[in-house]
Amino acid sequence: MLEKHQVLEKNSILLTIGILIVVAIGGLVEIAPLFYIENTIEKVKGMRPYTPLEQFGRNVYTREGCYLCHSQMIRPLRDEVERYGHYSLAAESMYDHPFQWGSKRTGPDLARVGGKYSDEWHREHMKNPQGIVPESVMPTYAFLSDNMLDDKLVADHLKALRIVGVPYTDEQIAAAKSDLVTQLDEFADDYDGFVARYPNAAVRDFDGDPEHATEMDALIAYLQMLGTLVDFDQYEALADENLR
Ligand code: HEC
Repeated sequence: MLEKHQVLEKNSILLTIGILIVVAIGGLVEIAPLFYIENTIEKVKGMRPYTPLEQFGRNVYTREGCYLCHSQMIRPLRDEVERYGHYSLAAESMYDHPFQWGSKRTGPDLARVGGKYSDEWHREHMKNPQGIVPESVMPTYAFLSDNMLDDKLVADHLKALRIVGVPYTDEQIAAAKSDLVTQLDEFADDYDGFVARYPNAAVRDFDGDPEHATEMDALIAYLQMLGTLVDFDQYEALADENLR
């Protein structure tokens, strides 16, 4: 047996191929079942696809590279849960393309930053982070208030997301362009339609400038909903029931 093994040990290419095969088997055994087990992503109540405005804000977030300094994944470790809230569930990023888990925390995790501060706080912080936290190394994003929302591609974007599995309905795609601005105005004509399409979406002017629909509006709408969709009182109650 050992003599046969010598053949492998003396021939580096053969050894490399051997290692690859063994590692591949290990990987398959660990990863393949996840694609078939029903509860890899446990179902939770409250998750819905992003509104067009939130999705737009999310695009600004990725475009500006916020993920280079901020993660969006609270790990199930005590210090993280005490600081940021309930650990992140797989279902909470089920509509994220691309996901924003991140790998570096120069700034704090943002997975549950929604509702933590007022819109005004976010506005001031985005315009001048050092005005709020003097030692902050976060750059300024004041220019977002001057960038108007460009609604040209918003319906196409929802369509593209539907191809990769986000369950946008035909109605949501048809209304995408108007929904983008309806979320900024409680008195908009289609307010009721919008709220029916996107339950629990916050409708208001986010950037303090009701005259204009800006990228600042979109980014703050996105930040304010992060981690707020799942009702954890209900989630814990259900989990307890399943354990019994
Ligand atoms: C160079 C790294 C860096 C980048 C890039 C960056 N941030 Fe930050 N961010 C920080 C740091 C450091 C803090 C903590 C100090 C502070 O509040 O400014 C922070 C804090 C925050 C907070 C407050 C979080 C809390 O719980 O107190 C929010 C919200 C935030 N950033 C959003 C963003 C967004 C949105 C972007 C992209 C448009 C962004 N950041 C880009 C470094 C960064």
